Amino acid sequence: MDMISQLPDDLILKIFSLLPSAKDVVVTMVLSKRWQFLWMFMPRLVYDDSYDHDIDYRKFSQFVDRSLIFQKAPVLETLHFKLGQTCGSGDIHVWFRAADKCCVRELIIDISSRRKTQITLPRSLYSEGYRNVVTLELSNAILVDVSSPISFPSLKDLSLESMIYQGGDEFVKSLLSNCPVLEYLFVKQCSYDNVTIFTVKVPSLKNLILYTSYDRVEDDAHGFVIDAPSLEWLDLVDNTGGFCIIEDNMPNMVDAYISASYSFPGKILSCITSVERLDLCLLTSKDAYPVGSIFCRLVSLRICTCETEWLNLLMRVLQDSPKLRALKLEPYHIRRANQPRPYWSEPSSVPECLLSNLETLEWDDYEGKKEEKEVAAFILRSGCCLKKVTIKPKSTSRGKKLEMIKKLSFSPRSSPFCRLSFN
Ligand SMILES: *[C@@H]1O[C@H](CO)[C@@H](O)[C@H](O)[C@H]1NC(C)=O
Repeated sequence: MDMISQLPDDLILKIFSLLPSAKDVVVTMVLSKRWQFLWMFMPRLVYDDSYDHDIDYRKFSQFVDRSLIFQKAPVLETLHFKLGQTCGSGDIHVWFRAADKCCVRELIIDISSRRKTQITLPRSLYSEGYRNVVTLELSNAILVDVSSPISFPSLKDLSLESMIYQGGDEFVKSLLSNCPVLEYLFVKQCSYDNVTIFTVKVPSLKNLILYTSYDRVEDDAHGFVIDAPSLEWLDLVDNTGGFCIIEDNMPNMVDAYISASYSFPGKILSCITSVERLDLCLLTSKDAYPVGSIFCRLVSLRICTCETEWLNLLMRVLQDSPKLRALKLEPYHIRRANQPRPYWSEPSSVPECLLSNLETLEWDDYEGKKEEKEVAAFILRSGCCLKKVTIKPKSTSRGKKLEMIKKLSFSPRSSPFCRLSFN
């Protein structure tokens, strides 16, 4: 303790910042006279009520009230609330008002998903004190509508998990388009979010993650509209049968993960032809993207083998990706029980990537079914540059596994350096 006492104030505050929650910091008041006032300058405050002990809640709430009222730091790097089931909207209103004298950089309001009633976040979230937030993470709460446009001129990272938007579609559209420097957006929808079309129109956006709710009933009225020409990274998971409209080409796209049950994925893939790494799980192959799109920089492709169409999708993308070096086939969803097997027909011409670039093939949960054997044999036979083929058979009996291995090992290979291994 003595050694720490010798340190300058700002270093001690840094050490305090490493303590897990604000309570631990205030406890330090009793440790040293000098520290009695130091905690009021804490740049990082974490209030954690996620234990859900009713008895403690009053104490917790009083503690937050007081420590925020006495807070003297001009800039709060982090203000983080982890709230459980007891907390009410009124408490948050009071705390927000107390904290808005500080300039908050990172604001996290993480509310338990086990609550029965949703907390409404106060309007003061849009006020001066929070105007300079750089990072904003909200979960399981209601965002109120206001008539005047909201703006977050410094906001770079925004995370909206299971939020309800009182103002519906228009509010979401306006909120996001008033974040002029936003670079990272994470949205995880809930089925009762009061939004039909979720519009992301953000010219500065680089990373976008959009997950729809799994418990939403399938309906094709719901969807996304994306207008983000600077996007480099897209992660889109939508199994609700809705739609996604991309308004503009995204020429800087590097990584894309798309798992969607749209009958017409339409322009998504043709707007991201610059991707270098692509992960796909789609219901359709024919309508996956328009004829003529070429993925000229694609080096790494992963295709999910849960849908019947995966094999046709694979052959299409192989034909249109001349630089492809690494291919991975893997079921990242569970195949539906009544799903018909995919159908394989050998293409009339060997895709260029197989003749000149493809080096690795990795296949997880290989079952040795007829069409699987045919594709594997085709790739081994045509892949002139193959170096490593790794097959992980789906766990069946030992005898069956051995037979699968034997069959593939005797397949002709065009690359003399190709190493075939079974895991
Ligand atoms: C849903 O959004 C509309 C505006 O689109 C609004 O009028 C309505 O009050 C919202 N409903 C809820 C429950 O927030």
